[in-house]
Amino acid sequence: MPEGFSGGLEGVVAAETVLSDIDGEHGRLLIRGMPLERLAERGFEAAVALLWEGIVAGELDSGGMVVLLGKARIAASRNVGRWLPSARGKAVPQGLRLALAAIPDASTPAEVAAALPVALAALTRARRGLEPVAPDPRLTTAADFLRMLRGEQAEAREIAALDAYLATVIDHGLNASTFAARVVASTHASLAATATAAYCALTGPLHGGAPGPVLDMLDAIGSPERVEPWLEQALEKGERLMGFGHRVYRVRDPRAEALKAALLRLDPKAGRLALAQEVERCALALLKRRKPGRALDTNVEFYTALLLDALALPRENFVSVFAMSRIAGWIAHAFEQRRTGRLIRPASRYIGPRAA
Ligand code: COA
Repeated sequence: MPEGFSGGLEGVVAAETVLSDIDGEHGRLLIRGMPLERLAERGFEAAVALLWEGIVAGELDSGGMVVLLGKARIAASRNVGRWLPSARGKAVPQGLRLALAAIPDASTPAEVAAALPVALAALTRARRGLEPVAPDPRLTTAADFLRMLRGEQAEAREIAALDAYLATVIDHGLNASTFAARVVASTHASLAATATAAYCALTGPLHGGAPGPVLDMLDAIGSPERVEPWLEQALEKGERLMGFGHRVYRVRDPRAEALKAALLRLDPKAGRLALAQEVERCALALLKRRKPGRALDTNVEFYTALLLDALALPRENFVSVFAMSRIAGWIAHAFEQRRTGRLIRPASRYIGPRAA
């Protein structure tokens, strides 16, 4: 009979990794040894190149990764006809599950990762009654995603903001979706199956699904004088404030700071920023008062919501834009897990009835 039980697996070390290191006490994040702040400046393709070292042939730098992912978007666009007809009319996360399920099992890491920007742009356009726009393989993922979505080139400052976002959220220890990816990869299922499972885990509001509800909260609050009563009432009802709290961080999530900086570069007068900052200030004060033993601070999703909203992305797309980045992390973890050769199979403690 196994000893010990931790329902949320807090403090249980279930993998060894070289991919990311979270210092939850001091609010620091390293991606393969590189501080988050530096990675955010280098952009998404540089971050993928770093995480995929040893996974793709040769030593790829950021430029090489732009070419690899660009070609893979072209390959992914040839698959769109296989799933788009059945995804029409469905909510975006549901449509994206269909797109992920249609990725061929033999796909390369780049083809699996590139399927998401292509699919998300095609799905969003289909909801507006528009045809998909073919990828431009010369562009970065951020630039091409915005172009495929809008049908025209985005502004440089918008591309820079999305690129910084995608680099910032690429990997983050053994979060729920990455753990799901490692469990599936440990069974030797395909990368496509691994990514599909991880995406499903990401979509819940306690994980990657929080940013949409952050905007819903800001909408519901509406104006600065309503901030305190609204938050008080929500906490009184036992609700969780979206965008606050974290399983690992005991201080402010460093990604929140990186995304706030990217938002200010994109639009220093971003519409919701003043209200959001008042909500943040008040929420932190209330959480401190109501949960004195807990260290609840701002997490990545609060500024994710503001940044993606400033890019005019629909809120039902937020979790899938997150996945466009995190899929690179899932793939790196899948390879790392497979190399251990060990099936992940924990134990449960039976607490049900026994035959008399
Ligand atoms: N608002 C209000 N209370 C919160 C809270 C929040 N955002 N986050 C945690 N708490 C409270 C819990 O109710 C609990 O209180 P209790 O001890 O009186 O029961 C306490 O703080 C600890 O919560 P716990 O559930 O142990 O934390 P966790 O590590 O399991 O949760 C999250 C981490 C992220 C799931 C949680 O903070 C949360 O639900 N946040 C809101 C959703 C969100 O922003 N998700 C994105 C995460 S990046």
